[in-house]
Amino acid sequence: MKILAGNSNLPLARAIADYLDLPLTDASVRRFADDEIFVEIHENVRGEDVFVVQSTSAPANDHLMELLICIDALRRASAARITAVTPYFGYARQDRKPGPRTPISAKLVANLITEAGADRVLAVDLHAGQIQGFFDIPTDNLYAAPVMAADILSRGKVEDLMVVSPDVGGVVRARALAKRLAENVPLAIVDKRRDKPGSSEVMNIIGDVTGRECILIDDIIDSGGTLCNAAAALMEAGAASVTAYLTHGVLSGKAVERVSNSALKELVITDSIQPTEATLACDRIRVLPIAALMGEAIRRIADESSVSSLFD
Ligand code: R5P
Repeated sequence: MKILAGNSNLPLARAIADYLDLPLTDASVRRFADDEIFVEIHENVRGEDVFVVQSTSAPANDHLMELLICIDALRRASAARITAVTPYFGYARQDRKPGPRTPISAKLVANLITEAGADRVLAVDLHAGQIQGFFDIPTDNLYAAPVMAADILSRGKVEDLMVVSPDVGGVVRARALAKRLAENVPLAIVDKRRDKPGSSEVMNIIGDVTGRECILIDDIIDSGGTLCNAAAALMEAGAASVTAYLTHGVLSGKAVERVSNSALKELVITDSIQPTEATLACDRIRVLPIAALMGEAIRRIADESSVSSLFD
């Protein structure tokens, strides 16, 4: 088995390799003067089971192209099996046509990864489970929920908790987290209406959050609008506190500043996307590592053993 890292999240790739007690594959991913990407693998990979770790986070197009070129280099070097490991799978929110004459870019990206030569895909908390079906190669979708649940349980009393989905689409994810915390942890839903992409408006809270320590759960924080508006609405509705758990800290634009000035007690993200310095410097944001989860899944894929039992 070999682990090859793109440039998008080297600390996570190194941590995964450490978990597996392997060195990272000796390779260079660099740029020509005109910005074209060039990949060179400096060791033999013929017949190897190779895992390419690359989040397609910002700059999404560059990181995606790096991933495709790494896969192409491995295929031409006769790797036996290539797994595209995308801790954060970008373009996932473009998973359907929002209107006429618009693309389904998540499907296009799935096609590109497959055509480049990937034999399988390993992702974490895909924005929509059905994106697995966009690939005609095996796709494992890991959940950060066990890591989050362990963190929540280590920090407070379960009796006061209420798990909250920031929108109707996230209810299944919220219910799954609630079940992991304990029997009968109540759920609430924020009925979010979004007028146009990039803006969000909270309309209603479904459920009584009075006096509750609310745990908001979502897959992505991008501009932070969804989350910060939801936190404000929950506090207004009488919640005792609001802590948010998000898998992918996209945190674009002024999101970190928005979180700092929000009603959130704390924002907990994973390192599926490499945190920026601003994120690490923000005392309201904490990063949970997922290298062990990903490393264990990779070990099981390589051993041909069960990945789903990781979540039992
Ligand atoms: C939407 O369906 C996603 O699950 C997130 O809620 C959304 O992408 C967050 O975006 P933002 O932070 O820009 O509100």
